[in-house]
Amino acid sequence: MVKAAVLGASGGIGQPLSLLLKACPLVDELALYDVVNTPGVTADLSHISSVAKISGYLPKDDGLKHALTGTDVVIIPAGIPRKPGMTRDDLFKVNASIVRDLVKGIAEFSPKAFVLIISNPVNSTVPIAAEVLKAAGVFDPKRLFGVTTLDVVRAETFVQEYSGQKDPSKAQIPVVGGHSGETIVPLFSKASPSLNIPADKYDALVNRVQFGGDEVVKAKDGAGSATLSMAFAGYRFAEAVIKALRGETGIVEPTFVYLPGIAGGDEIAKATGVEFFSTLVTLGANGAEKVTNVLAGVTDQEKKLLEACTKGLKGNIEKGIDFIKNPPQK
Ligand code: 2OP
Repeated sequence: MVKAAVLGASGGIGQPLSLLLKACPLVDELALYDVVNTPGVTADLSHISSVAKISGYLPKDDGLKHALTGTDVVIIPAGIPRKPGMTRDDLFKVNASIVRDLVKGIAEFSPKAFVLIISNPVNSTVPIAAEVLKAAGVFDPKRLFGVTTLDVVRAETFVQEYSGQKDPSKAQIPVVGGHSGETIVPLFSKASPSLNIPADKYDALVNRVQFGGDEVVKAKDGAGSATLSMAFAGYRFAEAVIKALRGETGIVEPTFVYLPGIAGGDEIAKATGVEFFSTLVTLGANGAEKVTNVLAGVTDQEKKLLEACTKGLKGNIEKGIDFIKNPPQK
């Protein structure tokens, strides 16, 4: 039996993500939670003839408690999206407290659940979640994940002409670091099968992976950021976690984790100087079994990208931790 919950289910990412989870034969129960419109989204999805039993909740009548009780996997896309000209960091003010409050609920009602965070800025909201879980005495680094899969999906798509794959997802490209601009580092030299990227195309490709989200924000012209591709990516990662939970072995996905406490994590923390980092993670029934250090033997160009990444990441991580340790005065 697998119960999944989506917190922020009525939003731009939440709705298509909930649709994909409702259609997933690996999900037995699906609980939707949001501050508005959950009854409508739930009624709509409930007509789909799939395995998952669906229920939907608003904050009233202990909705969060009901959504989370007995839940194995919680996915959080809740929060506001970017408008043109905004960075993911600009969302911090609003989304930080949304994530903090939802994770407080997880600590109370489903402390053993796997927590998958999509809400931006992921580089800060994951440290926020870790601090909230730590304060409640239920933090397990193996069960907290920042979803960075969209960066991987974009990398696979944007290099298709060099990977030569008819199905772009067959190209394995480690994308490490964080989930925002320069903190996103595609390691093209570590792609499998190997890529043949012409030297004059390299910088533009890296830039497109790092700032791909801006293309969507611009094209949506004020109506938000990536929702459909983000839902696809969030689902891809959630499905991997659910498969591992159900006993499938050998599943490896890049994701943003708290390195100390996960086998292999200390080595990467030492090499990068940061405790939260997205890297290849082997998933198992208890969560993140081990992390793989893909940083050894990277090219000089990639080393430079990694330097800029860790510099930005440090500030983003500290900002999240500080938000919980020294809460802003109201
Ligand atoms: C993106 O990368 C929404 O953060 C998301 O477009």
